[in-house]
Amino acid sequence: MIPDFFPANRPVVCLAPMAGFSDRTFRLLCRERGADFVVSEMISAKGLCFMSEKTRALCLPQEGDAPYAVQLFGSEPATLAKAVSIIERDLGAQLLSIDLNMGCPAPKIAGNGDGSALMRDPVLAGEIVLAAVSAAHVPVSVKFRKGWDAAHENAEEFARVCEENGAAFLTIHGRTREQMYTGQADRACMARVKRAVKIPVIANGDVHDATSALDTLRETGCDGVMIGRGALGNPFLFEEIVCALEGKPYSPPTWDERRETAMRHVRMALNEKGDHAMIELRKHLAFYLRGIHDAAKLRTRINACKTLEELEKIWG
Ligand SMILES: Cc1cc2nc3c(=O)[nH]c(=O)nc-3n(C[C@H](O)[C@H](O)[C@H](O)COP(=O)(O)O)c2cc1C
Repeated sequence: MIPDFFPANRPVVCLAPMAGFSDRTFRLLCRERGADFVVSEMISAKGLCFMSEKTRALCLPQEGDAPYAVQLFGSEPATLAKAVSIIERDLGAQLLSIDLNMGCPAPKIAGNGDGSALMRDPVLAGEIVLAAVSAAHVPVSVKFRKGWDAAHENAEEFARVCEENGAAFLTIHGRTREQMYTGQADRACMARVKRAVKIPVIANGDVHDATSALDTLRETGCDGVMIGRGALGNPFLFEEIVCALEGKPYSPPTWDERRETAMRHVRMALNEKGDHAMIELRKHLAFYLRGIHDAAKLRTRINACKTLEELEKIWG
C-alpha cells in the first residue's frame, strides 16, 4: 500500500536525511519549496533510549513544524523498538513515518555494526525491521545502499528481506559502502531493486536538477526521488522538480530571492539555536553562495561574522 503522504498522481519528491544539515529549519524551507516529505538527521536509537536531552531535542517538533519522518540508526532490535515507541509518544501527530538507516558508511557508525554494516547481516536487518514495524503505528521505511562493496552487492535480496518483515517503502542509494560518496549512483541497481519488491521504492543519488530527476525516474521505474546534496543551498530544487513532473512552468529564483532565502534560513536557525549557530550556518551559507559572482571573497567575509547584525551589513 502506498503511504498516504505520497502524492496520488505523480512520483514522490523528498529531502534526504543529512546529519549536520537536515535540521528543523532546513526541513521547513524544503517543505515550503515543495518537498512532499522530509526526513530528520539520523538519530541514535540507543541515545533516545538513554534519554539524552541533546538527542531528544534533535527530533522534537516545534510550533509550525510540518509532519516529518524520523530516521533512526542502531543494530539491536529491542532498542530500535523502544526508540520507536519514545518517538511516537514525543512527536504524536508530527510523526509521519520512521526510517531505518541501513546505509550510513561512516566508520564510527558502520564500525559499530550500525548503518551500512547491517547490509552484511540481512537476518539481523530483518529482525530490526520486524521489531520496529511491530512497535510502530506509522509506516516504517528502510534506507540502504547497493551493498557493502563490489564483491558483495546484495541490494535486491536486502530489499526483499525488508519487504518480508513489513517495511512500507524503501530508499535505495545506488552506491556501495566502499564507494562512500564517490563515483556515480548506479541507476541500473535502483531499477533492479524496484523490480525485486512490490512496495514503493524511492531512488536516491545524484539528483541535482529536474533533468537528473526525470532521467532517474525513467531509467529506474522508481516511485520517487530522494534528494540530499542537490538541495543544499537550493531548497528551490523541489519546486523545480515538482513543476517538471506536473508539466507546470518554473522560473528559477533570482539571486536576490536566493539571498533572501539564505538570510531567512539564518534568522530562523539563530532564533531557534542562539548565536552560536552562526558557526554551523557557515556551511549552509557556502552552499547558497555557489555560483554567485566573487563567491570565495564573500565567503571569507561571511565566515568572519559572529552575529546576525554583522552578516546583515555584508549580505543583508
Ligand atoms: C553531509 C551528509 C550527511 C548525511 N547524513 C545522512 C544520514 O544522517 N542518514 C542517511 O541515511 N544518509 C545520510 N547521508 C546520505 C544522503 O542521505 C544520501 O543518501 C546521499 O547523499 C546520496 O544522495 P545525494 O546524491 O542526493 O546527495 C548524508 C549525506 C551527506 C552528504
